[in-house]
Amino acid sequence: MSARFLVMACMLLPLTAVADDISKGEEIFNNKCSQCHTFSMAQAMLEPVAEKDRPAYLRTFLETHPPKLNASEKEVVIKALSQRSD
Ligand code: HEC
Repeated sequence: MSARFLVMACMLLPLTAVADDISKGEEIFNNKCSQCHTFSMAQAMLEPVAEKDRPAYLRTFLETHPPKLNASEKEVVIKALSQRSD
C-alpha cells in the first residue's frame, strides 16, 4: 500500500462518515419524529435559522419538543437537520 493511497484514504474517510451520519439522522427521524411532520418539512421550518446557528437552536428546541430522543440520537438528528436543505 503506497503512502499516497493512505493519505487519500484519510482524506476521504471523514466525508463518508458525514454522509452516513446524515442518513442515520434521517433514519432516526423517520422512526421517531415523522408522525407529525417529515424530515424535509422540519428542514423547511428551519429555513429562517442560519445553518451555523442550527445546532445550538435545535439543542434548545429539542429539549421540549416531543418525543424525547436520547442524547446520541439527538446529536445525530441535529447534525442531519443542520445541513442545507436544497
Ligand atoms: C406530536 C407531533 C410532533 C412530533 C412527534 C414531532 N414534532 Fe416536530 N413539530 C411539530 C409541530 C406541530 C411543529 C410546528 C410548530 C412548532 O414549531 O412547534 C414542529 C416543528 C418542528 C421543527 C421546526 C422548528 C421551528 O423552528 O419551527 C423541527 C426542527 C422539529 N419539529 C423537529 C422534530 C424532531 C427532531 C422530532 C423527533 C424527536 C419531532 N419534531 C417530533 C410536531 C411534532
